[in-house]
Amino acid sequence: GTVGAAGAAGLALGGAGGAAGYAVLGDAGDGGGPALTTVGSARVPFRGAHQAGITQPSQARGHLVAFDLAPGAGRKEAVALMRRWSRVAELLMAGEPAGGADSGVARDAGPCSLTVTFGFGASFFDRTGLVARRPAQLEPLPAFSSDRLDPKRSDGDLWVQIGADDALVAFHALRTVQREAGAAAKVRWQMNGFNRSPGATAHPMTARNLMGQVDGTGNPKPTDPGFDGHVFVAPGGDQPWMAGGSYAVVRRIRMLLDDWEKLPLKDQEAVIGRRKSDGAPLTGGTETTEPDLDKLGPDGKPVIPADAHARISAPEQNGGATMLRRPFSYHDGIGPDGTPDAGLLFICWQADPRKGFVPVQRKLDRGDALSPFIRHESSALFAVPGGPADGEYVGQRLLE
Ligand code: HEM
Repeated sequence: GTVGAAGAAGLALGGAGGAAGYAVLGDAGDGGGPALTTVGSARVPFRGAHQAGITQPSQARGHLVAFDLAPGAGRKEAVALMRRWSRVAELLMAGEPAGGADSGVARDAGPCSLTVTFGFGASFFDRTGLVARRPAQLEPLPAFSSDRLDPKRSDGDLWVQIGADDALVAFHALRTVQREAGAAAKVRWQMNGFNRSPGATAHPMTARNLMGQVDGTGNPKPTDPGFDGHVFVAPGGDQPWMAGGSYAVVRRIRMLLDDWEKLPLKDQEAVIGRRKSDGAPLTGGTETTEPDLDKLGPDGKPVIPADAHARISAPEQNGGATMLRRPFSYHDGIGPDGTPDAGLLFICWQADPRKGFVPVQRKLDRGDALSPFIRHESSALFAVPGGPADGEYVGQRLLE
């Protein structure tokens, strides 16, 4: 089959293409049929300095699921759980079945860039008697005036982020993770999301969100100087077990699409400060041209309005506050109020949320032109430990 350049780019960025994927096909007794496409065979390593699912290109499908440890479960059960989860995550990310009771849902497919990422919420440390090792970075996020949070869909002891470029592969990983939770942990909330499929565009492009905007342009790039310092916890901190880890802020942000879609294009562009067609700043150029925040129009007002979302969220406007945004879109049908229950599963990654998400959201909360068109409906913060070394399970340096 033909695969778009975006798929190939995902493969290149996402790590080694997997010979294992092909082996699985052969083992499945398919008579050595055609080779997998690059979308299917793309494989992300489970082990390394950082967990997978942070710097890899966003996959087409995502599941976010938070668990609470079961009543009576503590550190011992948490250790066994992280061992089980790490074992199946490694197998599935290599495109192999997850063991005896495998449901077979992902059969015939390669790993499709599957990533399974694990995090710990603040309450995990109380439940496991590890309060002394709870990082200060996990202190609860402040309340924001525009928050409309549902506590049942917020927070959680444990968090699993699953991403894959195939819906069946992603679902299979989700079910496997839920199965392996066993009696140790219960699902607290689950959210399902999506992004553009690799190969959908003629060449790799920044994705669009459900408002139709090019979203992700201003993200720091792994090749930028200082990227690691902004996104990953440096070794030698006061919680050494978090070295190589990162903090994920997760917000389910509903888009008020009926209102947004009525807004004329010019007004939509003023809300962000960028052109809708190609994401270029309103001061001109292409998507990657730096916005000219000082430029005034013939009316004497800034061309990029004072309350434009991309102006007030920019690191230069926030003392350097930087985060890596890696969201999924979601659509859960029509809500009780008759409007689409759709928006952004906003996930941002940073070495310290007090220097990334929090100052930026404080500022947005005070006067973002986007605010009338969105509603933050749930919120969570997780410590995502560094990637497992050979022989380790995720979180071992905390739990042992
Ligand atoms: C930039 C959309 C929520 C932080 C942007 C851009 C768009 C956008 C279209 C410009 C293109 C780009 O650089 O990616 C949205 C939508 C949101 C949302 C639709 C909610 C549904 C948030 C939140 C935060 C945030 C909650 C953080 C608190 C940023 C940052 C930038 C940005 C840091 C890049 C600014 C720059 O470097 O120039 N957003 N955003 N956004 N947004 Fe958002």
